[in-house]
Amino acid sequence: MKNQKGDKGCKERLIDDYGREIRSLRFSITNCCNLNCIYCHNEGEWRRGERNREEISAELVIEIARVASGYFGIRKIKFSGGEPLMRDDLVDIVQGMRDFEDDISVTTNGVFLSKYAAELADAGLDRVNVSLDSLKEERYDFITSSRNNLPKVIDGIYSAIDAGLTPVKLNMVLLKGINEDEIVGMMDFVRECNKRGGRGVAILQLIELIPSFNPSMLTYEADFYGVEAELKSKASAIKTRRLQHRQKYFIDGVEVEVVHPIDNTEFCANCSRLRITSEGKIKPCLLRNDNLVPIENIDEEHIVNKLKLAMRYREPFFGKKNLANHKITQISTRK
Ligand code: 5AD
Repeated sequence: MKNQKGDKGCKERLIDDYGREIRSLRFSITNCCNLNCIYCHNEGEWRRGERNREEISAELVIEIARVASGYFGIRKIKFSGGEPLMRDDLVDIVQGMRDFEDDISVTTNGVFLSKYAAELADAGLDRVNVSLDSLKEERYDFITSSRNNLPKVIDGIYSAIDAGLTPVKLNMVLLKGINEDEIVGMMDFVRECNKRGGRGVAILQLIELIPSFNPSMLTYEADFYGVEAELKSKASAIKTRRLQHRQKYFIDGVEVEVVHPIDNTEFCANCSRLRITSEGKIKPCLLRNDNLVPIENIDEEHIVNKLKLAMRYREPFFGKKNLANHKITQISTRK
């Protein structure tokens, strides 16, 4: 365990008009990815190919994190992409903020993880989320539009466990007709991981597909309510996380966390996360692109003001009374 930084001692808290306090930042540090998953929302940004390579500078990432921590008491950071391990300075970025963060994690596709796990752990990374939608090679290849990567990802997961980057959360986006029948198999794999590293080193995170960025994905929408009902019936214990009121089900020694955003007013009402895009813009909501706030200077006062401005734009995507005019922005139409 890293040392906890104790009393937050911050100057202000970031709370929006709906009473939602920000407790974590999620940085998309590149829009590049080595895979091409059929459903990928690319963190609500443009896809690679539709726009040039975008990479917020390491210096700006560290400064935003430092200000968010020192000024607003936010000490939880997640890096995503694109694929964050495609940046060769990720280790430096983590190292540069370890002293003022309590929890630093990365969401990765895992292909390069075995190479970097130990180094990232040494630099101060706490844990990883690894995208793993199928354990069957043919399905995995289809979903990721790639070949020969599944064994590398499994290796990466084991390396992360061995390096202590735990709990390793296995992100499984549920896709009708593709991987719906693999929940039990994934739970078995979690048990295998737990045998290797100890109880709780791996967690299955079941994620509802957000199809709206790509309408052709509507055919893959699974019955998420049905899946949750089944988990509920099998669980020996159920907990609710503070973040987005996510449910956690404990089934035969396996923890299954459920991410269920669509039409879920509770999810939005309990959103405590602010995103930063690979272009260095604050993104108040994953599902919107019309209210981004660019950060232009590496300057404390500027960053403080921009974070406060972005807070004024925050509103729950699902659950706000006059939602009628809001449509999820389709990335493909935004050229
Ligand atoms: N719907 C739900 N989750 C998605 N992710 C990416 N695209 C989507 C989508 N359309 C999530 C997956 C992946 C992580 C990087 O982002 O969980 O593991």
